[in-house]
Amino acid sequence: MSILVTGGAGFIGSHTCVELINAGYEPIILDNFSNSKRESINRIKEITGKEIRFIECDIRDRKGLDKVFAENDIEAVIHFAGLKCVSESVNEPLMYYDNNIGGTVTLCKAMEAAGCKRMVFSSSATVYGSENPSPMREDMPEGKTTNPYGTTKLYIERILKDLFASDNSWSVCLLRYFNPIGAHKSGKIGEDPKGIPNNLVPYVSQVAVGKLDHLNVCGNDYPTPDGTGVRDYIHVVDLALGHIKAVEKVLKETGCNTYNLGTGKGYSVLDVVKAFEKASGREVKYVIAPRRPGDIAICYSDPSKAKRELGWEATRGIEEMCEDSWRWQSQNPNGY
Ligand code: NAD
Ligand code: UFG
Repeated sequence: MSILVTGGAGFIGSHTCVELINAGYEPIILDNFSNSKRESINRIKEITGKEIRFIECDIRDRKGLDKVFAENDIEAVIHFAGLKCVSESVNEPLMYYDNNIGGTVTLCKAMEAAGCKRMVFSSSATVYGSENPSPMREDMPEGKTTNPYGTTKLYIERILKDLFASDNSWSVCLLRYFNPIGAHKSGKIGEDPKGIPNNLVPYVSQVAVGKLDHLNVCGNDYPTPDGTGVRDYIHVVDLALGHIKAVEKVLKETGCNTYNLGTGKGYSVLDVVKAFEKASGREVKYVIAPRRPGDIAICYSDPSKAKRELGWEATRGIEEMCEDSWRWQSQNPNGY
């Protein structure tokens, strides 16, 4: 059975396609390659030994989407496609609202018209905002978002909830990711940011490989054990496996359910630096810099709902995450 994977050429999408194939599904990638390379699709083929279909299309292109649904027997959609850079979203809010929210609305309309009403959506822990204490639970109120990117995730969740409320034959899983890092064990696919990375682990990897001189640790005066920000890092393969469980759920029953995908453990910036140095055998130089606007001190999940209802749990620890990130980075110092 075919699963349409929007944004399937990207970081999380490519890992999820590998796991979909391993689980016997037939993913079809739909991507406009605005933040990914075609080479990632070749690598998926190399890892799995299977052909994979891909369609170059934008999720805002209704005619293109209608054609995709008309020509394929699509049972469900995993919807990764979206722009995700927090700082860019502050400077280009309309581009984010148009691409992420406009694109999702267009996609849902095309799905509805085609009678395909099963979706797994990439949301984010950012919807908890800064007011909720960790561990974050799905029944906590959504928080205030601090940037347009976060607001797109919050609004899309609401749109999908409203859609289900209006038509109970939809089946939706809203997956709130914590901080995905790591890479496939083969070292063939991984995170390939354009330009200077915004996120911690891609930045640390580039310092370790010698492309960047040092890490700026954004604040060491937070109320955390070592003063640096604490996050719930999750191996991207564990995250991908969470999507397989969510697909099983949306194929089985209607509903609109929200799940955290995290490990439930928090690590500080300096914990990650140490773990990465151990995994890579390289020094990661750093300097203490000012706090980054919009950052919160601590963010980690309570992942028990996903375990209870999806039968999913993360099993890979921080050492393995850093080892796998390093294998990808050292085998592909310039990305794909
Ligand atoms: P990514 O940028 O690697 O992948 C997103 C993919 O979507 C890219 O291949 C891009 O080309 C494609 N895309 C973007 N806009 C599109 C459009 N209009 N039409 C078709 N394709 C389009 O990012 P990722 O890290 O793999 O993230 C996947 C999803 O998970 C995103 O929605 C992101 O917001 C969400 N998410 C990511 C993180 C994270 O830390 N990586 C955390 C929480 C949520
Ligand atoms: N950090 C640094 N230096 C850097 C980059 C990050 O010290 O160069 C610190 C941050 O201050 C934070 C931690 O490392 O304490 C993690 O930062 P990331 O940018 O890697 O991740 P965030 O938790 O800020 O954000 C990520 C995604 C968001 C998503 C959020 C919650 O980038 O899209 O997780 O899911 F919304």
